[in-house]
Amino acid sequence: MRIAFCSDLHVDISKNNWELVPHLVEVLKVVSPDVFVLAGDISPELGDIEYALDLFRPLSCHKFFVPGNQDIWVLSEEMQEKGHDSYEKYYFFLPEVCRRNGFVPLWTEPARVGPVGFVGSIGWYEALPGFDGQDELGDAGEAARLRDSAWNDMRWACWCDISTLGREGLGPLRRSNEEVAREFNLRLDQDLEDMERDSQIKEVVVVTHFPPFPPLGCWIGDEEEKVIFPGSRETGSILLSHRKVVLSISGHLHDKSDLMVSGVRAVRCPVGYLGEDHRKPQSIVEERLEVIQLWSEADLARGFSLA
Ligand SMILES: [Fe+2]
Ligand SMILES: [Fe+2]
Repeated sequence: MRIAFCSDLHVDISKNNWELVPHLVEVLKVVSPDVFVLAGDISPELGDIEYALDLFRPLSCHKFFVPGNQDIWVLSEEMQEKGHDSYEKYYFFLPEVCRRNGFVPLWTEPARVGPVGFVGSIGWYEALPGFDGQDELGDAGEAARLRDSAWNDMRWACWCDISTLGREGLGPLRRSNEEVAREFNLRLDQDLEDMERDSQIKEVVVVTHFPPFPPLGCWIGDEEEKVIFPGSRETGSILLSHRKVVLSISGHLHDKSDLMVSGVRAVRCPVGYLGEDHRKPQSIVEERLEVIQLWSEADLARGFSLA
């Protein structure tokens, strides 16, 4: 099975980002994967997401999406005060947008393609280490971008406790990052448990927006190495506790990564912010779209019989 993946299209960030999407689709048509995975951060605007996902319509493969933090932002304080929140986007608007445009909303509808199961979650973080020591992060680079991202989440990611809606003159209270992470981790654990019990499923791919393992974080400092891990360690433990999980696809950080964590291959291939990137779209796509092969038992049996 060939799985093509990328993340962080950020189409609202620059003209370059928007213009890359049709090129991505053209390359995918040639690559012709069995599965295409988008691991979040298209845009805070639902209209942008709708338009972007629609551009992938010519692809006949299975298409899976998991939202990123920017996709669940509610960019209006007035709307937030009225109770429109990130849950509404996560559980209602975004799954609808996916279905309308030929993508499976993996975080609400786990899927199976032959013997491979696909499970998804935004993979929210409990807390961001390094966020309190802001000064040491400096003003440039990936660490600074992660700090800005966390500030923006505090303002626009709005996981509301609806039982507090209607407090006099005040908007609803927000749930803590710890609570949100715990809730999504529970759901992910349940979905993975279902995959473990399904005898037709031999291997499982988990798609999250935030990285599930600390080694996927952002390394800062030269002498004393320190990592900023914008994810939940619990998410990683859940992945490792289910023996069928072989592959983790994530996003959020804007550098590529491909490593092994206790037998699970963990990959990331984000587009990121292209405002300053003056290369030809073709070269960007070459770098920012990854395809990996997942060998099934049937493939391997065929291989051995040929040998
Ligand atoms: Fe991003
Ligand atoms: Fe993100």
